[in-house]
Amino acid sequence: MSDSVNKVIEKNVDPETMLLPYLRKKLQLTGTKYGCGGGGCGACTVMISRYNPITKRIRHYPANACLLPICSLHGAAVTTVEGVGSTKARIHPVQERVAKCHGTQCGFCTPGMVMSIYTLLRNHPEPTLDQLTDALGGNLCRCTGYRPIIDACKTFCKTSGCCQSKENGVCCLDQGINELPEFEEGNKTSPKLFSEEEFLPLDPTQELIFPPELMIMAEKQPQRTRVFVGDRMTWISPVTLKELLEAKVKYPQAPIVMGNTSVGPEVRFKGTFHPVIISPDCIEELSVVNHADDGLTLGAGLSLAQVKEILAEVIQKLPEEKTQTYHAVWKHLGTLAGCQIRNMASLGGHIVSRHLDSDLNPLLAVGNCTLNLLSKEGERQIPLNEQFLTKCPSADLKPGEILVSVNIPYSRKWEFVSAFRQAQRQQNALAIVNSGMRVFFGEGGGIIRELSIAYGGVGPTTICAKNSCQQLIGRPWNEEMLDAACRLILDEVSLPGWAPGGKVEFKRTLVISFFFKFYLKVSQILKTMDPVRYPGLADKYESALEDLHSRNHWGTSKYQDVDPKQLPQDPIGRPIMHLSGIKHTTGEAIYCDDMPVLDGELFLAFVTSSRAHAEIVSIDLSEALSLPGVVDIVTEEDLRGVNSFCLLIEPEKLLETQEVSCVGQLVCAVVADSEVQAKRAAKRVKIVYQDLEPVILTIEEAIRHHSFFQGERKLEYGNVDEAFKVVDQILEGEIHMGGQEHFYMETQSMLAVPKGEDQEMDVYVSSQFPKYIQAIVASTLKVPANKIMCHVKRLGGAFGGKVTKTGILAAITAFAANKHGRPVRCILERGEDMLITGGRHPYLGKYKAGFMNDGRILALDVEHYCNGGATLDESLFVLETGVLKVDNAYKFPNLRCQGWACKTNLPSNTALRGFGFPQSGLITENCITEVAAKCGLSPEKVRMMNMYKEIDQTPYKQEIDATNLIQCWKECMATSSYSLRKVAVEKFNSENYWKKKGLAMVPLKFPVGFGSTAACQAAALVHIYLDGSVLVTHGGIEMGQGVHTKMIQVASRELRMPMSNVHLRGTSTETVPNANVSGASLVADLNGLAVKDACQTLLKRLEPIISKNPKGTWKDWAQAAFDESISLSATGYFRGYETHMNWETGEGHPFAYFVFGAACSEVEIDCLTGAHKNIRTDIVMDIGHSINPALDVGQIEGAFIQGMGLYTIEELKYSPQGVLFTRGPDQYKIPAVSDVPTELHVSFLPPSQNSNTLYSSKGLGEPGVFLGCSVFFAIHDAVRAARQERGLLGPLKLDSPLTPEKIRMACEDKFTKMIPRDEPGSYVPWNIPV
Ligand SMILES: Cc1cc2nc3c(=O)[nH]c(=O)nc-3n(C[C@H](O)[C@H](O)[C@H](O)COP(=O)(O)OP(=O)(O)OC[C@H]3O[C@@H](n4cnc5c(N)ncnc54)[C@H](O)[C@@H]3O)c2cc1C
Ligand code: FES
Ligand code: FES
Repeated sequence: MSDSVNKVIEKNVDPETMLLPYLRKKLQLTGTKYGCGGGGCGACTVMISRYNPITKRIRHYPANACLLPICSLHGAAVTTVEGVGSTKARIHPVQERVAKCHGTQCGFCTPGMVMSIYTLLRNHPEPTLDQLTDALGGNLCRCTGYRPIIDACKTFCKTSGCCQSKENGVCCLDQGINELPEFEEGNKTSPKLFSEEEFLPLDPTQELIFPPELMIMAEKQPQRTRVFVGDRMTWISPVTLKELLEAKVKYPQAPIVMGNTSVGPEVRFKGTFHPVIISPDCIEELSVVNHADDGLTLGAGLSLAQVKEILAEVIQKLPEEKTQTYHAVWKHLGTLAGCQIRNMASLGGHIVSRHLDSDLNPLLAVGNCTLNLLSKEGERQIPLNEQFLTKCPSADLKPGEILVSVNIPYSRKWEFVSAFRQAQRQQNALAIVNSGMRVFFGEGGGIIRELSIAYGGVGPTTICAKNSCQQLIGRPWNEEMLDAACRLILDEVSLPGWAPGGKVEFKRTLVISFFFKFYLKVSQILKTMDPVRYPGLADKYESALEDLHSRNHWGTSKYQDVDPKQLPQDPIGRPIMHLSGIKHTTGEAIYCDDMPVLDGELFLAFVTSSRAHAEIVSIDLSEALSLPGVVDIVTEEDLRGVNSFCLLIEPEKLLETQEVSCVGQLVCAVVADSEVQAKRAAKRVKIVYQDLEPVILTIEEAIRHHSFFQGERKLEYGNVDEAFKVVDQILEGEIHMGGQEHFYMETQSMLAVPKGEDQEMDVYVSSQFPKYIQAIVASTLKVPANKIMCHVKRLGGAFGGKVTKTGILAAITAFAANKHGRPVRCILERGEDMLITGGRHPYLGKYKAGFMNDGRILALDVEHYCNGGATLDESLFVLETGVLKVDNAYKFPNLRCQGWACKTNLPSNTALRGFGFPQSGLITENCITEVAAKCGLSPEKVRMMNMYKEIDQTPYKQEIDATNLIQCWKECMATSSYSLRKVAVEKFNSENYWKKKGLAMVPLKFPVGFGSTAACQAAALVHIYLDGSVLVTHGGIEMGQGVHTKMIQVASRELRMPMSNVHLRGTSTETVPNANVSGASLVADLNGLAVKDACQTLLKRLEPIISKNPKGTWKDWAQAAFDESISLSATGYFRGYETHMNWETGEGHPFAYFVFGAACSEVEIDCLTGAHKNIRTDIVMDIGHSINPALDVGQIEGAFIQGMGLYTIEELKYSPQGVLFTRGPDQYKIPAVSDVPTELHVSFLPPSQNSNTLYSSKGLGEPGVFLGCSVFFAIHDAVRAARQERGLLGPLKLDSPLTPEKIRMACEDKFTKMIPRDEPGSYVPWNIPV
């Protein structure tokens, strides 16, 4: 194993250990991160290199360390991010470019990104963009929105800087964006955010070589079975087929672990345990590739990535008619999982696992594949058919048997094979439904001779529509056959309403929509093969066959350069790289769980409620306590007197052992000497519940039960009721919006360290609010706050999710640490984190709008209901913000908005980027879209008509100058060529029946502020040391937004010294007390004013000294000041913006200022599958004077992509019993690299106004989220076009997120009409919308 060529010898290999904890805990190589533990996020990516002594080739491939058993790595070289480069030795060009192209924010995903790119470059030093996006498909980033990472990658491509698509021989740069003339901007001075000239060249000869020792070992050492024996598990690695079979006879129940991507997640998440594992190593026969007369034989041990490469070659070489099945398998291999999993997973493992949603098995089944099995008894062949797939004992592997290889026959002339799949996300997402279909006509005639159809995702295993196919044999390939086939298939492949996975009607529709696609595709080929006999398709139907628009990524950012008169060393306004950027990419940036294990450290694991509303009858801790290593279990009893804390309005309990009110509520906490033991013991705590009524989960149920938290919010302006009497039309509607998971890449993490003296404690925690952690810990330990110091270096993302719940988790952790006088660490697993912590509030918005026929809205009456969950948390503030921001960018002369926070039996929902505005804004925009439809106008026209213009008043009577709002809108219209593209979209839609495009533009007015002056105060502390170096501390938390970078820019400007002279160590309650929470887009804004104040104080003190020696250095001045007894340390303070709100009168000045913007998005949808692709987004923002355009563009784009996820693919699923199903990246889909708009253009409005903010800048952390709804409305537009063409002219109600399911079901057609529908109430659905 190598990290910068270090050899590690492990004598006591425990077969249960995965590479990730081994690297992180045992070797202290903490660059490789934990994000999910299940292969779904890519944070743990490493490069594996293996030498093949037969081919003499080295294979480098990316792999997920979280699923790699260390025992499987014998003979392999492991390269971690530390081995790629470091600031101590040399940074690698990948590391440099990702950092300098601003591809890091919180940096938690970054080492994984670097490893994926690095591995790609090891294999392809000049990759294509397709290879790059493919390589990054298995890596998630929650902050950046991927565009800057793609930018960094592009610098390695042969031609960088353009889309690389040469359609008709013309590049995007020549033809203008989207083939339409580009808008000519007044201000063309848009400097680049990074300069490629300074990049280190990539020199493949400089890379680490494969360790010769391992090469010699592979060549020379006699190979024999290796056995590793651990405490509970034995690992056997046979190296010959004979030994493998012997092991299999000896241990027939033992799984054969190849990639461990199927066995691994089952062990980890389902608690499966295997006392023996057989893991063949380099057995030649398992890697065969044989071309025979009848087809291809592929070894079961080949990885899916290798299979993809082999098939690509075969497809190139052989005639198309022979490669139908290969092509279909190859196509699915492009979207199956991410690159890492495809490189680890084996063909055999995939086939034998027989997952219900397997992408390959349906294809291999219809392709008439056979499996070559071997046992001590000899060889035999079995067909990969329905019986095998349903694990029918007579058609399955026998206990002593193994799969050696797979025969995939060639296809024949007049034989056609196709693959279909639809998932929640384009890439790296298990299919909702997938399918393989094959038809054989034989020479001439067009009569079906053979037909095979298999589906995944619609049953407990792959399902073959055998009877349907049988009945269709002998029929001609025509519309009557299509109709009969759909009915037969629906009958045979039936899904009950309660089917696991939900989306039942969608799945039924997909089943026949796929067949329709197959029908069209075959018809089209038949037409090309024999145009006389087969007339083929109408042109407008052909669009059903094309893949969604998939050109490569192309982005621009336009911002204004600094004033040429600004001093060159003054960094304000310049695109300075995130100061931790390089450390992010080298893995040297330290996060909470990267801190080394301390002496005597314990680990704490929570036991949570499994019931939504129940009395706890008893808790039996005995079995858990009896496990070795278990030290204690903290219960409510221990916390008597300190078991609750009030942060905001209502006190919250820490642990609950009487009556639980949601699944995931903290019941008790196990403390043990290792993470493994703590988690094992937590599973052994036995709780007996008595269910209680009612269980309220949804907003509708809460309304029915009148279950609200106290404190309705109401805002009223003008006279709504009177206005309704004079309007031309009145419309009533509603929209439901689902919640959102924060999905910060670093899960909740904390380490409490008792100091052993005076009850002091240090708490290291991933929190946005150290003051609160300090307060809750002090209260729980019954000590004054001055004994508790809370330290935060940086967070791996937060987005509002590391405030309230983090405090409770930290308090219990600190309690355990205090009780035992030992450090205690608590790191939540991804699944626990998602279950416990809640997220964005689901919303129900009901509206009644009164408007004139020309689109002017004169009266709007809105009701907001948010699903607050079991405790109040921040729900009232979220609701309040939603009510205050209901007007978005519009002047509604008469407006009433009321809001209620529903109390339900769900985990408490909390702050999430945008804080109520993304929900409230969507409700308002949806209403406007409906008004436009009623008036027969475009939504954009109605938006413009109702927008604030110039100086006006908000509903709460705060003055607003909307000049820049209108400016953003106009500029966005122009830069996006809205009018031209609107025409182009309409033309496209009239020519295509099954694909539709949609275009939508939304304006943004985002009021920034906390609603109270005190909540906006901030402080800083600046020291100058005698060598002239400066240390800055402030109350803000670095969570990826680059606040520390901006603070150093501020200090550098104020003290007129280079940034390199200023340092910032992190945030601590020890240096800056009583700091406010970091949130609400204001962190840099407020703390910057405090830093500025401190620096100005210091400068003022030092001015006499500086003027005495103007040519002196900072060292001279510091020394002189010291000699003259002038203090070199100063605090800085900002008392907060003057903001207030009176809810009694509904009036106030709750916000400091407004951020304006607009976004225009264009999408294409597939009406048959519900897939969508965001083709292009243009964003224009008024951000005042940017302090750092690189960071600001990053905030806008990152927030936009997060918003896009919120409104289109991120879907939380709860069972009717209130259990969250979506507890990891495998079930919950945040945007991946493939979801980034093909073109993304961000520009800033030239700064026009000066304000009292930090250098007239504006806070940008949150506003961009809402702009993601431009994609929602673009899809809405496309769906409307589809419906109009189908004669459906009535109102269109689409809820958020607008998933493939909702898109498909809204594009009603004969297939949606054909499917059986279940009577609501006749079954219990798998999941319910909350
Ligand atoms: C994050 C993630 C994303 C995924 N996404 C997709 C996706 O989009 N589409 C999709 O179809 N699948 C997906 N998968 C599933 C993946 O394809 C399978 O897990 C994988 O192919 C299994 O191969 P493996 O070598 O890792 O199997 P292992 O886990 O090593 O073994 C699996 C099983 O196969 C048996 N086995 C293995 N080899 C043999 C043999 N030679 N003879 C007899 N028995 C054998 C073992 O006994 C074991 O029971 C995903 C998995 C993960 C973790
Ligand atoms: S931690 Fe390994 S993929 Fe997420
Ligand atoms: S920078 Fe990618 S997750 Fe934060």
